[in-house]
Amino acid sequence: MKTWETVMHLLLVCGVIVEAIEPVSTSLLVGTGAAVLGRKLYRYMYESCDENWVNFNATGLKYDLDTKLFGQHVAAQVILKAVTGFMTNQNPKKPLVLSLHGWTGTGKNFVSQLIAENIYEKGMKSSFVHLFTATAHFPHQSHINTYKTQLQDWIRGNVSICARSMFIFDEMDKMHPGLIDSIKPFLDFYDNLNGVSYRQAIFIFLSNAGGENIVQVALDFWKKGNEREEIKLKDLEMALSLSVFNNKNSGFWHTCLIDKNLVDFFVPFLPLEYKHVVHCGLAEMVSKGHKADADVVHMMAQDLNYFPKEERVFSMQGCKVISSRLDFYL
Ligand SMILES: *[C@@H]1O[C@H](CO)[C@@H](O)[C@H](O)[C@H]1NC(C)=O
Ligand SMILES: *[C@@H]1O[C@H](CO)[C@@H](O)[C@H](O)[C@H]1NC(C)=O
Repeated sequence: MKTWETVMHLLLVCGVIVEAIEPVSTSLLVGTGAAVLGRKLYRYMYESCDENWVNFNATGLKYDLDTKLFGQHVAAQVILKAVTGFMTNQNPKKPLVLSLHGWTGTGKNFVSQLIAENIYEKGMKSSFVHLFTATAHFPHQSHINTYKTQLQDWIRGNVSICARSMFIFDEMDKMHPGLIDSIKPFLDFYDNLNGVSYRQAIFIFLSNAGGENIVQVALDFWKKGNEREEIKLKDLEMALSLSVFNNKNSGFWHTCLIDKNLVDFFVPFLPLEYKHVVHCGLAEMVSKGHKADADVVHMMAQDLNYFPKEERVFSMQGCKVISSRLDFYL
């Protein structure tokens, strides 16, 4: 990066031409010369909030959800519909707010990453994508007031720079209710707040809340001998809303995010079965640069823990530990 900055300065200040980097028409060179080329190059090298860097690919998102996410037919469908609808709406009335729920390792973080990759050229590395983890970013209860101000400033500052900003809050169930309260105004149906409009922004909340109820639904289906793929959103919505409204322990739900309908979609993630873990393992092997080897992956998958104890239907850690586990078997 440092070298590039130097080159950019040379280009802008001294008017040096580096023809090889970007094809430029002769008229441009003859006309306004190197400063223009320099500016062009600058835009090309440095992320900016324009269609070169922020551009939604609906086909890409569908393809990724179909081929890279395993065992989540309900979540995949809701996410695709929600994100595509929002991104193609010229005039949304509020920012998009998604709340992703499920057992660990079922793909909540992964899906956020897929969304980011199909909106931002730089994916999760984009300077317009912000990931906050409750325990890492806001660890001390006693600093809650500082955190509140800081978080509000960050959201305001970043959305001022790029209306199409994305904020991901991991471990939402561990976030202080006051902190959630402080971001509420940004999620609402306001035209603007102090001159800044948040209607193009995307907020994604990740939590394990409701995970156990989702597991119960999946387990009931399994016990009845029904296909997992027959599970519908409405089967899970009931389970989710029950746990969401009745669980007084999770701070998230004490706030009026729900009362005020600020969350557009609650997205349930099903617990993963053995075969999904195998899919994850095979994909992981390929992404590590190996040839997919089913024997190795089965060996790894068999050593993982499954629940309930008797039936061993669902993977305890889902696909979360697979990357590190595989190294052990290779
Ligand atoms: C959108 O995604 C598809 C599938 O991954 C890819 O083939 C295509 O090149 C992408 N389009 C753009 C404009 O990046
Ligand atoms: C944008 O958010 C980041 C945290 O992700 C923060 O460090 C930065 O200061 C914010 N920028 C502005 C202009 O507020």
